[in-house]
Amino acid sequence: MLKNQINEIRDEALQAFKGAASTKELYDLKVKYLGRQGSLPAIMKKMKDVSPEERPLMGQAMNQAKDALETAYLKFEEELKRGELTKRLSEEKLDMTLPGPPSKLGAHHPIEMVFDEIIDIFSRIGYYVRSGPMIETDDHNFGALNIPPEHPARDMQDTFYIDEEHSLRPHTSPIQIRTLRSEKPPFYVLGPGGVFRCDSDVSHSPMFHQIEGLVVDKKVSMADLKGTLSYFASEFFGKSIKTRFRPSFFPFTEPSAEVDCSCPLCNGKGCRMCGHTGWVEIGGCGLVHPNVLSASDLDNSEWQGFAFGMGIERMAIIKYGISDIRLFYENDNRFLEQFRR
Ligand code: DAH
Repeated sequence: MLKNQINEIRDEALQAFKGAASTKELYDLKVKYLGRQGSLPAIMKKMKDVSPEERPLMGQAMNQAKDALETAYLKFEEELKRGELTKRLSEEKLDMTLPGPPSKLGAHHPIEMVFDEIIDIFSRIGYYVRSGPMIETDDHNFGALNIPPEHPARDMQDTFYIDEEHSLRPHTSPIQIRTLRSEKPPFYVLGPGGVFRCDSDVSHSPMFHQIEGLVVDKKVSMADLKGTLSYFASEFFGKSIKTRFRPSFFPFTEPSAEVDCSCPLCNGKGCRMCGHTGWVEIGGCGLVHPNVLSASDLDNSEWQGFAFGMGIERMAIIKYGISDIRLFYENDNRFLEQFRR
């Protein structure tokens, strides 16, 4: 009788389940008896030889055997699991007082490092930091800086306008105006910050960083400006660096100049960085225009000043020999980790 065979297999399997020493062994037994190639399903193939009257009894026996085995399996599995867990817990002792694996330390961003270093160099000669908002009024950005209404910098193509009166500041020079109007001279001010212009390619980013310098005192001359920026360049790039001043034009300074320093990468011999001229431009500067002082209610016969502005990305590019401005903003750790200090 097939029914007897079914029951025999069931009893044999139950016995085997009982003797299983691990969940793995138990599972293998389950596959052996109940799996697709297992001994119980194999009997089903003989069903076709069974008489029609006997078939329902057979089916019933088969279902009961399967149910019994499934139930037994779950029961033994539960017991074995519990035993295995207790064993593991007693074997694997965890010392909760041990320190965990160290977390990876972050690195300073090169832009932040250049800001810090410039501020440090100037603070040694008495400068301090002032700031201003990134969304600025037209007057702070342009008008009070003696930039006339028809000046190209005011063009929508250069400046991101928010409305008629406001734009993202295109330079840090409005920090000069904020300081002139809110504090009393003398001033030895640095204005670091992010600036925005409609420009984007290998050497231009729509968002970049500048640092502004403003000195207002009695008897300030071009010689003071030159001495200050020469001191800065030799501190920042190295003692052997030379500086030169070329006449230039900015509406907010008179006279105005552009500052170059001997290329730190090739020591002035000429390389790709300096376009084989031996010199790299590091910023603009000049004596504060009398109109800028008077637009902020300072008596320009009593006070004089000088100002300068430098691009931070540019300084980092020159100092570290970086080829593409976009590297600063891509958050690629392989680049950023090289600036760990
Ligand atoms: N604001 C100028 C620019 O963004 C840079 C500059 C030039 C700032 C001369 C100054 C200065 O303070 O005196 O191009």
